Amino acid sequence: MSAAATDTTGSADSAASRTAPVVLRADDVSVEYDGERPTRAVRGVSFRLHRGEVLGIAGESGCGKSTLAYAITRMLRAPARMTGGGVVFRGSDGVETDIAALDDAGLREFRWNRLSMVFQSAMNALNPVTTVGRQFDDIFRAHLPGAPKEERARRTRELLEMVGIDADRAGSYPHELSGGMRQRVVIAMALALEPGVVIMDEPTTALDVVVQREILDEIERLREQLGFSVVFITHDLNLLLEISDRLAVMYAGRIVEYAPAEHLGGAAAHPYTQGLLRSFPDLTGERRELRGIPGSPPDLREDLTGCAFADRCPDAFEPCRSVQPRLLAVPDRPGQWTAACHLHDPAFRAPGTSEPDPPGGRPEAVDGSAPSEGSTT
Ligand SMILES: Nc1ncnc2c1ncn2[C@@H]1O[C@H](COP(=O)(O)OP(=O)(O)OP(=O)(O)O)[C@@H](O)[C@H]1O
Ligand code: SF4
Ligand SMILES: [Mg+2]
Repeated sequence: MSAAATDTTGSADSAASRTAPVVLRADDVSVEYDGERPTRAVRGVSFRLHRGEVLGIAGESGCGKSTLAYAITRMLRAPARMTGGGVVFRGSDGVETDIAALDDAGLREFRWNRLSMVFQSAMNALNPVTTVGRQFDDIFRAHLPGAPKEERARRTRELLEMVGIDADRAGSYPHELSGGMRQRVVIAMALALEPGVVIMDEPTTALDVVVQREILDEIERLREQLGFSVVFITHDLNLLLEISDRLAVMYAGRIVEYAPAEHLGGAAAHPYTQGLLRSFPDLTGERRELRGIPGSPPDLREDLTGCAFADRCPDAFEPCRSVQPRLLAVPDRPGQWTAACHLHDPAFRAPGTSEPDPPGGRPEAVDGSAPSEGSTT
């Protein structure tokens, strides 16, 4: 079995991943929203984030992206509940922190200092009745209790200027700033204590394309300057292709493809990724007809038998409705590249091909277990 085939994360190659240590590791994370019929929003997600890397997470609305982000940062609130898996952060000193094991004080210290998050619609989460400077000061007073007032004010001005906002704006209230400025303030706050990892959930989606572009450039510049790693979440796959080192595509709570971003655009292995790529305009390439993916994602309160994408998949064939595909290494792709699709599983003969099943039956899945008939996700 190749190294790629034994990697349970399905992690893909990139310059960063080949050389840099892992800073954040998610193993088999599962989350449910309790209810009469629980919603299984995240179903066994694993990934590795390397130092200085941008990991993009893409997928349609409702596929579990934000729920995964909340699980990673241990910010899930009832009725959400992590039902399996774990998340480990590794500091620059090499010390590992099991996020699930932190007590309240440990968690307060950990957030902002080690790992911070820019929430979906975060710009609307600023406190409307307090000046921007005061909100920075609250962070410093909570996390750097010994820092003198002048030092806190200096740092606030520095952070505002770092994201391209005039330092005098520290005296402004959020409603006195544009949406783009508010979003920059939120990003500056996330970077205030120089964390190793920043999770950004749709940080630019509410902004017009010009401001979005400016902020993305700003994030990239800051990342190079400060060296933090990013998990960047959005439904916009083309945007992620541009800014990510590696990319995970989620569908119905699971990662269905995990690949180096620089190659994914032209060589997506999973029919869902291919459909997503056809759904967005290619900003740099030739004009082409945009085609969305017909149908809608499954109800995550249901037990999903076989491949969750089968009802919408133009390539579905015999085993798809009964056997759950596992993330397996995709042959003939650069770097480490995995997809959860029977088309790439040598155990199943793709329609129109005459290749027999390999001797000895199905190969092992990447986690070492063979997929079973009728298995559910
Ligand atoms: N509080 C809640 N109670 C019950 N179900 C929820 C709750 N919040 C989210 N869900 C369900 O969990 C699933 C994943 O939601 P999530 O918000 O993580 O998706 P998402 O990928 O971030 O979507 P979007 O792109 O719209 O932000 C969805 O099916 C959603 O309906
Ligand atoms: S496993 Fe089957 S239904 Fe699922 S994406 Fe692959 S071909 Fe389509
Ligand atoms: Mg979301």
